[in-house]
Amino acid sequence: MSLRRLAPPDVQPAGFAFNAANTEWVKTTIAKYPAGRQASAVIPLLWRGQEQEGWVSHPMIEEIAKMLAMPSIRVLEVATFYTMFNLEPVGTYLVQVCTTTPCWLRGSDAVVEACKTHIHPHQKTVSEDGKFSWMEVECLGACVNAPMLQIHSDFYEDLDGPLTEKLIADLRSGKAVKVGPQNGRRVSSEPEGGAQALKDAALYDGSIIGKHVPKAPPPPPPPPADPKKPGTA
Ligand code: FES
Repeated sequence: MSLRRLAPPDVQPAGFAFNAANTEWVKTTIAKYPAGRQASAVIPLLWRGQEQEGWVSHPMIEEIAKMLAMPSIRVLEVATFYTMFNLEPVGTYLVQVCTTTPCWLRGSDAVVEACKTHIHPHQKTVSEDGKFSWMEVECLGACVNAPMLQIHSDFYEDLDGPLTEKLIADLRSGKAVKVGPQNGRRVSSEPEGGAQALKDAALYDGSIIGKHVPKAPPPPPPPPADPKKPGTA
């Protein structure tokens, strides 16, 4: 279990407030819960706060505690328990690199190395230009296209070192990037090199319907040889 604590005081902002659109959303969300159960909205509110700011700050925790009429230590407990909440400032692009076994076996070390070289040698640290930070994460459920990483809500898959470097460079220079597989696969679950099975066109044009001839059953096994009677040669 990793140690999770709030960012040091010198990087905490002076305050936090939801923007106008999110304030409306917060009101609607809190109203969904029965009277006295508003504290149940703590995860949605923290998540919306993180979507707005990129990370969960101490002032955000205090503000959400006030909105939900709950002790701020309870909000702190939730924020520090769930690893989906970022407790430090992040870059405009937070690069979440999966390093769980399937991605690791398929080369996530090279993806991490590209992040170290082109973003920052240490994870959870914002790059000098403020545009990037990166972190290792557990399986993101796209193992079929390992190794992969997530930025915002998008997956970038079938990566290697050079493809990761190009992705970072393109985002840095504002170029449009393609989400999903980066190695030429058109869709995520497509086999590399295209389909390798069920390629016979007759399977799909109806020409073999009704032509299936069941195989003849195998012949019965021969009867066992007569056991020799005692005393016979
Ligand atoms: S192990 Fe990386 S997505 Fe599952």
